Amino acid sequence: MKAWVIRTEGGPENLKLEDISKPDTRQGWSLIRIHAFGLNRSEWFTRIGESPSVKFPRVLGIECVGEIVDAGGGPWSKGTKVTALMGGMGRQFDGSYSEYTLVPNNIVFPVQTSLTWEKLAALPEMLQTTHGSLHVGLEIDRAESLLVRGGTSSIGMAALALAKYAGLKVGMTSRSQEKIKDLLAAGADEVWVDDGNLSEQIDKKRETKYQRVLELIGATTLLDSLKCVSRGGIVCMTGILGRKWILDDFHPIGDIPTGVKLTSYSGEAADITQQKLQDYLDLVEKGKLSIKTGPVFNFENLVDAHRLMDENRASGKIVIRGVQD
Ligand SMILES: NC(=O)c1ccc[n+]([C@@H]2O[C@H](COP(=O)([O-])OP(=O)(O)OC[C@H]3O[C@@H](n4cnc5c(N)ncnc54)[C@H](OP(=O)(O)O)[C@@H]3O)[C@@H](O)[C@H]2O)c1
Repeated sequence: MKAWVIRTEGGPENLKLEDISKPDTRQGWSLIRIHAFGLNRSEWFTRIGESPSVKFPRVLGIECVGEIVDAGGGPWSKGTKVTALMGGMGRQFDGSYSEYTLVPNNIVFPVQTSLTWEKLAALPEMLQTTHGSLHVGLEIDRAESLLVRGGTSSIGMAALALAKYAGLKVGMTSRSQEKIKDLLAAGADEVWVDDGNLSEQIDKKRETKYQRVLELIGATTLLDSLKCVSRGGIVCMTGILGRKWILDDFHPIGDIPTGVKLTSYSGEAADITQQKLQDYLDLVEKGKLSIKTGPVFNFENLVDAHRLMDENRASGKIVIRGVQD
């Protein structure tokens, strides 16, 4: 089968299209014929060598949509439409940059939808992360306003859609003035050009601070994000787009304002139920939940898609079509 294999960390050109053996079927694991998959920033981190736990050579790709070829004793029949995500896929074992993948049954979700493979592929990981961050991390059902720091990311765009659906006022950020209009068009109530010192801008221009912040940039902006929320508010760190995991000099009493809560989200497939995922897909299908997604590439152009990610020009989830028959 065709698969993109990475043997050494580096640029997009280090992903090589190869013919490798199709995985053997295995009890408790599902063999899936991949029809499409979304690209994830975590794969980009792995590609550039910033995921030390991933050993090369590896077929990357932490999610896919496709159909069951063999369910390894699981309850799904051949041809069932499924998604699979996380659980070590594309990290501890080969993932979705491939014609077929073999994954443990606990990360397989059957789905019923008439969305195209490309539209469906944009959603699973994005919905799982965003649902977990907003509902488990940030408890948005008790809030009225949210700031998404790293708004133009695919997770940021999905967070905007889910938070608007839940009735919140949503502020979004980008480092780039040119992307502001895209954020407004996607439904943001307020947009901010992030200069790293957003709390000052917010204090000057807004009557109140936000009640919630979804932190997708990470340790580089986290201390400032803590100053963007009002007392009783929550900051949830879900992403590290700024490529810094650790706070060098953290003084909890000084750095966390009184009454502000700090949490994180490091999701797994089990953090969203099959029913919840299906509910979201139904909302998307009925046009009640509109998530702005990015461009779609053919399988053989995956290197170009990684280049686009390098350049931060996608403005939403990038999707790759599976190998065409
Ligand atoms: N915790 C979890 O379970 C989980 C799951 C999925 C993803 N994540 C994390 O969530 C984050 C978003 O993932 P994604 O796939 O949605 O990302 P993505 O779509 O690839 O994000 C692209 C955006 O990142 C921003 N960006 C890139 N480099 C940056 C930097 N050095 N500083 C600030 N902003 C930068 C750019 O925004 P501008 O150019 O507009 O500023 C760009 O539009 C990532 O850190 C990812 O690892 C976490």
